[in-house]
Amino acid sequence: MASLGKLVLLMFLGALTCLCQSQEPEQCNLYCARSGSASGEPVQRRGPPGAPGKQGPPGDVQQCDCCSSKGEVCQRLRELTEEVESLRTVTRRSSFRSCKEIKTSIDGSATGLHKLVGPNGNEHTAYCDMDTDEGGWTLVASIHENNIGSSGRCTVGDRWSTEQGNVALRPNGDGNWENLNVFGNVVAATSDDYKSPGYFEIAGRDLMIWQVPNNTPLQNYNTSTYLKYRTTNGFLSQYGGNLYHLYSEHYPIRSGVYNFPSDSGPSVPVTFDKGDANSLHQHFPPNAKSETEPGFIQFRAISSRRYAFALCPGVRNKPTFNYPSQSCLGSTGATQGTYCGDFSGWLHDGHAVGSAWSADQTLLSTTFLLFYR
Ligand SMILES: *[C@@H]1O[C@H](CO)[C@@H](O)[C@H](O)[C@H]1NC(C)=O
Repeated sequence: MASLGKLVLLMFLGALTCLCQSQEPEQCNLYCARSGSASGEPVQRRGPPGAPGKQGPPGDVQQCDCCSSKGEVCQRLRELTEEVESLRTVTRRSSFRSCKEIKTSIDGSATGLHKLVGPNGNEHTAYCDMDTDEGGWTLVASIHENNIGSSGRCTVGDRWSTEQGNVALRPNGDGNWENLNVFGNVVAATSDDYKSPGYFEIAGRDLMIWQVPNNTPLQNYNTSTYLKYRTTNGFLSQYGGNLYHLYSEHYPIRSGVYNFPSDSGPSVPVTFDKGDANSLHQHFPPNAKSETEPGFIQFRAISSRRYAFALCPGVRNKPTFNYPSQSCLGSTGATQGTYCGDFSGWLHDGHAVGSAWSADQTLLSTTFLLFYR
């Protein structure tokens, strides 16, 4: 606001005719450049038209020579001009920590890419949704399954479970739900996994998820999304403001440590901005439908084998449901067998797509975009 005030003052001073005389040619040039004329040349403005048949008053003629009497004004004008230039540089470098800060500071800020700065002065480019429920949502992560077939389980590209192979149990997976690793790129967020510094740097209150077809280009993220849902109760503020704190401090992902089902994490109700609970549920494995309730996001679901699953998008599991591998993402704790991978067991061995314990093709080809606000 202080900078805006100075800008207004500068415009006001600019409107004052800084009748300069020759002692301070630099200021004179500066003033002349800003008033649209070449340095040292007179500025001529037309007067208003006169009454019909009568000549109007003559236009102002200003000598752009620096004057001693207004020298103080000229000096102040120069200082302010320098200050505005330096403020412009700072703005270019961004001072916003989240899309919410941009939304509340800049009128008419639009959906798309914006620069954010972290607590250490580190910058990154983030996708902001400035439309949903007044906007201010920062995209912080995407979960994308590059190969859920038997040759692709817990291999390269499975960053939300483990890339280290489906051969030995890794109770913590690769730990990316809980660590400070970053990967992927905001413009490739529907073609590969993505995790931005915002995942652990932004303090938010609510989580929003978009389900968008794989390989959707950035300019279509918001229009190609077939399901949009979000929490509204500010639950993240109870867990440190983001998923990094929620997992690392409150609900670590470990297998063989926690009890089924009592140690499963919280489930939070969601409201839908696109689609609804029923249309979300129809994509899940048929056998999982009666065991899950749509309209929630659940965190760290524990299975009867005491494996941990990071996040169940759009559903919560009934306490009797043994197999959250069929309803949750990030089988970080269950890094062995047919449920190993970012999409856990959504394509179960021996079951066709969309039957029994397998999700339908729409869900299997979906990227999950995670936003904070
Ligand atoms: C999608 O984003 C564009 C800006 O890129 C915006 O003009 C449009 O209104 C948005 N659509 C929705 C449905 O939010």
